[in-house]
Amino acid sequence: MRSVNKIALLTSGGDSQGMNAAVRAVVRSALFRGIEVYGIQHGYQGLLNEDLHPMDLRSVGDIIQRGGTILQTARCKEFHTPEGQRRGADCLRKNGIDGLVVIGGDGSYRGANDLSKLGIKTMGLPGTIDNDISFTDFTIGFDTAVSIVVDAINKLRDTMSSHERSSIVEVMGRHCGDIALYAGLASGAESILVPEVPFDVREISGRMKENFQKGKRHSIIIVAEGVGRGDNIARQLQEYSGIDARVTVLGHIQRGGAPTHNDRILASRLGDFAVQKLIEGDSGKACGTIKGELVTTDIEQVVTTKKDFNMELYNLAIRLAQ
Ligand code: ADP
Ligand code: F6P
Repeated sequence: MRSVNKIALLTSGGDSQGMNAAVRAVVRSALFRGIEVYGIQHGYQGLLNEDLHPMDLRSVGDIIQRGGTILQTARCKEFHTPEGQRRGADCLRKNGIDGLVVIGGDGSYRGANDLSKLGIKTMGLPGTIDNDISFTDFTIGFDTAVSIVVDAINKLRDTMSSHERSSIVEVMGRHCGDIALYAGLASGAESILVPEVPFDVREISGRMKENFQKGKRHSIIIVAEGVGRGDNIARQLQEYSGIDARVTVLGHIQRGGAPTHNDRILASRLGDFAVQKLIEGDSGKACGTIKGELVTTDIEQVVTTKKDFNMELYNLAIRLAQ
């Protein structure tokens, strides 16, 4: 006896590259195992509007390489309320859905956890560029976002060196400095400003000045949006160091474009794993990889545990950026 025969899936919160690859994996993995699959459009809002439709093999063709999400995404206020969550659970039951896969970030996981407490079998997949989900090495979309930032910094270096300027690059990451950290290390940024580590703009300015005196022709300062606006930091850096500064806010560029092969592979593995776990009768779990191995963790634990910041990588970046 299988514990699910008809499942649904939705994407929710900020989209991320690789969500489509995850949708494809869930749909194809379920159909391969003889399970019916329904796609819910517009996240939890679509669930409340009963906006769901059957998905077949061809409905997920030609999407593995596309950014965004064919299921659309949304932020739904009503789903924060117990009444909204109860309506969502009722809608799934009414349509005979006995398992739900939620692809999204921390907020979307909280919604899935609430549904699970109402008796719905749920599985979460970490779809966010922020990499702010605990109990997984990486989230789907993070690798692509970092590569976009690195590519932008490569270009900025050319012009900043020609003019002997500093480049302040503001990147996404609401409460998490991982995009800044990984992109900063990969692009040789001189300073990486993240919400997890205190910093002193005067000290950074002093170091920048010294480095210019020693012959550096440019300086890359990467700022996670969680620490404040890049233009404020740029103004202070320019004032304290006397070095001309320019700000680049990469914004939503970081959330678009084709996913990297790493994100496609992660999404494919996790999507298939979520279906397998639902079939085995697991519920209320978040899927992830730890040291590359597929794992599930109680969603409750995931949403109440802050992801560790990788100080080893941070210190390495500092050591190498002299
Ligand atoms: P992300 O999933 O990317 O973190 P949000 O935080 O915006 O994005 O959450 C996406 C949606 O998940 C919200 O619009 C809301 O519908 C639902 N959600 C967020 N937090 C909760 C919560 N505490 N309880 C129930 N649903 C929630
Ligand atoms: O959580 C993903 C994220 O891209 C954050 O990095 C960013 O702060 C936020 O979403 C932006 O949200 P919106 O798409 O609503 O502007």
